[in-house]
Amino acid sequence: MRCPWTVKSIEWYREAEGLTSYYSRIMDMTGRYLDRNGSVLDVGCGIGSLTMELAMKCSGVEAIDKSGLAVAALGERIKELGLSNIQPRNVSFEELSLGRRYHAVYLSYVMGLVQGWSLKKILEHSSRYVFIAIPARGIKNDFNVLSLAGRMGMDTGTLRQPCHKDIIPIMDALGVDYCVDVFESEFGQPFCSREEAMDFFKHYYPDFAARNGELNQWLSENLEYRDGRHYLPSSRESALITIVK
Ligand SMILES: C[S@@+](CC[C@H](N)C(=O)[O-])C[C@H]1O[C@@H](n2cnc3c(N)ncnc32)[C@H](O)[C@@H]1O
Repeated sequence: MRCPWTVKSIEWYREAEGLTSYYSRIMDMTGRYLDRNGSVLDVGCGIGSLTMELAMKCSGVEAIDKSGLAVAALGERIKELGLSNIQPRNVSFEELSLGRRYHAVYLSYVMGLVQGWSLKKILEHSSRYVFIAIPARGIKNDFNVLSLAGRMGMDTGTLRQPCHKDIIPIMDALGVDYCVDVFESEFGQPFCSREEAMDFFKHYYPDFAARNGELNQWLSENLEYRDGRHYLPSSRESALITIVK
């Protein structure tokens, strides 16, 4: 999970987005359920990495996010590409009123909304499908940070994250029909320099970055050199939950 958004983190994310197979995997798994004439709601759209893919498959996508910065970045991309079927809105899911139902509702890595009340509300917004992509493991291991935590002797409690196992009892209690597919995708990060990689860790993993020397050493062992740039690999293991109404 890479939040919160800043101007720099948006740049990092756009670069990673250009190299990952994560979004195309989601489309491979869900695209066949979409209706060309149907509408989609993308909840917690971020800078629109999934939204852009969805827009190629259906008549309209409403993309909402509570971060004004992320929505503004998506707005810029829509303008650059001259797209007319994406409606970005800076609104939180909590504030969203039930104005219409969408053929499909997507949530990709919006872990704060993996709760009973939100799932009920998500279901109300969908006429047919809900797709939820979420980590498949309860401990975050993006960029293999567990190996770094082990080396530093750090408590891995700070790396806990909600995963698909947390949402299954909620769906069972609501009596919905669902299936779960676990999939892996590379979601690494390119950098211009080792210093930039340090800045990235300062932003996303401040506890690790405080141990400058150890982090620097770990980066020197883990950064790869690809196409003239540094690249930190990351294998993301996700669960795609498909709910059919
Ligand atoms: C990890 S990012 C994922 C972005 C995008 N779905 C993707 O997969 O690239 C999570 C996003 O959810 C947004 N978010 C978190 N809670 C939200 C809420 N309650 N309502 C709307 N957006 C929310 C954050 O601002 C952030 O942009």
